[in-house]
Amino acid sequence: MKKIVVLVSGQGSNLQALIDACQQGRIAATLVAVISNNAQAYGLQRAEEAGIAAQALDAKAFADREAFDAALAQAIDQHQPDLVVLAGYMRILSNAFVQHYAGRLLNIHPSLLPKYPGLHTHRQAIDNGDAEHGTSVHFVTEQLDGGPVILQAKVPIFPGDEEDEVIERVQTQEHTIYPLVVSWFIEGRLAMRDNAAWLDGERLPAQGYAAD
Ligand code: GAR
Repeated sequence: MKKIVVLVSGQGSNLQALIDACQQGRIAATLVAVISNNAQAYGLQRAEEAGIAAQALDAKAFADREAFDAALAQAIDQHQPDLVVLAGYMRILSNAFVQHYAGRLLNIHPSLLPKYPGLHTHRQAIDNGDAEHGTSVHFVTEQLDGGPVILQAKVPIFPGDEEDEVIERVQTQEHTIYPLVVSWFIEGRLAMRDNAAWLDGERLPAQGYAAD
């Protein structure tokens, strides 16, 4: 059975979607550990409730980002994962960390990348009057939120929408597409090569897989 480590910083609703997908056999892998930079992250509790090893690392205990990421990598590598999944992990990663996991590190970002890398994506989409917003699953590279996109899901923004409504709409989509992409990787269908995502031997376009 292939092994997955998940990194979280907060609520862990995407983690929960992955836990459910593993339990239901939609992902043929074991979640071996959940690690957080935030000891209060509800995601850690979700892990414990599912019987998954849960661990927090406090950045304040380390001299700099490189030292923290080295300890994080050590904690991850103890579990020898095939895949590392960022699920609402809100710390910037050092280049050494990203290189160490190149091709087996996935992230979900709440925008239609390359639009709105970084923070406050929903707010920006609303303030700019966008009629369409969404979320992207991508391979992580050294470029922040800039790695090859694998799959996006779009949602509408309606006039008068509150930020919370848009976030909920986006997260509902995330809970479907993230387990799907993870299952592709676990089944050996998905890889990163030449700074592109490849699915079933086909190079995916910049916006990722499209059904049409
Ligand atoms: C998700 O919506 C995810 O896209 C976003 O944080 C949320 C975490 O929710 N990630 C980022 O903004 C990464 N830059 P969750 O903890 O309930 O899964």
